[in-house]
Amino acid sequence: MSYNFNEAKEHIVNSYGRLEPVISHGEGVYLYDTNNNKYLDFTSGIGVSSLGYGHEKWVKTTSKQLKTLAHASNIFYTEPSVKLAQELTDKANMSKVFFANSGAEANEGAIKLARKYSYDKYGANRSKVLTLIQSFHGRTITTLKATGQEKFHKYFFPFTEGFDYVKANDIQDFKTKLSDDVCAIMLEAIQGEGGVIPLDKDFVQELVEICKEKDVLVIFDEVQCGIGRTGKMFGYNNFNVEADIVTVAKGLGAGLPIGGILCSTKVADVFKPGDHGSTFGANPVACAGALVVLDEICNEKYLEKIAKRGAYVKEIIEEANNPQIEAVRGFGLMIGIKVKCEPALVQKEAIKKGLLVLTAGKDAVRLLPPLVITKKELKAGIDIILEILSNLES
Ligand SMILES: Cc1ncc(COP(=O)(O)O)c(C=O)c1O
Repeated sequence: MSYNFNEAKEHIVNSYGRLEPVISHGEGVYLYDTNNNKYLDFTSGIGVSSLGYGHEKWVKTTSKQLKTLAHASNIFYTEPSVKLAQELTDKANMSKVFFANSGAEANEGAIKLARKYSYDKYGANRSKVLTLIQSFHGRTITTLKATGQEKFHKYFFPFTEGFDYVKANDIQDFKTKLSDDVCAIMLEAIQGEGGVIPLDKDFVQELVEICKEKDVLVIFDEVQCGIGRTGKMFGYNNFNVEADIVTVAKGLGAGLPIGGILCSTKVADVFKPGDHGSTFGANPVACAGALVVLDEICNEKYLEKIAKRGAYVKEIIEEANNPQIEAVRGFGLMIGIKVKCEPALVQKEAIKKGLLVLTAGKDAVRLLPPLVITKKELKAGIDIILEILSNLES
């Protein structure tokens, strides 16, 4: 049975601004709707489907794991989770990992971890977490409050206390907000939902240096920009700094839910039995799939390819000199096109032409194509966007 848009609306809570096509299946970098219309996908399910759809090795590996062992409680270790932990911490140059199921859950756990580290070492009342204005960290009561956008701080009172917000790229503002009760700062190397806005290298480097001196933990939220998306293992690797805690999700799952809190040696043993947990965390099927992602994407050769493809996209957009485009932002295949018109208008027109794109912040058309996309496929999608923008102009 296939549902149309209005039928689907009757059954699912209306919490998303949904778009018209009901998605039926995917193949490579294409999605198909229930009427078998084909769409080139520049969204990856918001940064998840890094291997595209129906990736042979990923499907084979996860299917095999599904038959072998779909779930075991965290009272036991399982092979896929230990193997993934080892590979992930190796590639990330971190010590240990806690597995969760989503970005918000990973961030929530990272905040708990930072607070416990500080409590153990300095006692109570050093629990404040700084985040950046225009950031996005999730939809739970705590991660909504961690999100530095006023529009998310309504209705759901009381929110978790102990957050303050720093202007991105303003080191003076950071110094002012860095009171004695701060235990950590959480940042996205590239603000995704906020508009695909990369942080300045100088700002990040100085901030990390100050945090190190004051034993304030640096948490990078790599949920959207991590796991190869920017042409590096992590977005923050573009700034040559080290992190105390790194959160991951989205692209690591490639289609299955997984999240992770990567811990440096400083915090690796802070959680003791009973401090944190998650029933589905470290799910063997999700972990087996994530191992394929690491293998396929997170190696030097492939990361370089992603960086080059991103540079190619920027080049063709810039060469087009389209008067509707004010700037192209981002690294690798995390790209924001700052447009003069309403980004949602471009998104709607693109669907009519068989292309799926995202929007971000107030002014950006956001592109997060599968990381396995070819140059030719990228060019085809960009041509559609440029055509739409040219038509708007005339
Ligand atoms: C940077 C960042 N952090 C956290 C989240 C929340 O992730 P999830 O939706 O998996 O809870 C998102 C989701 O868009 C994100 O972009």
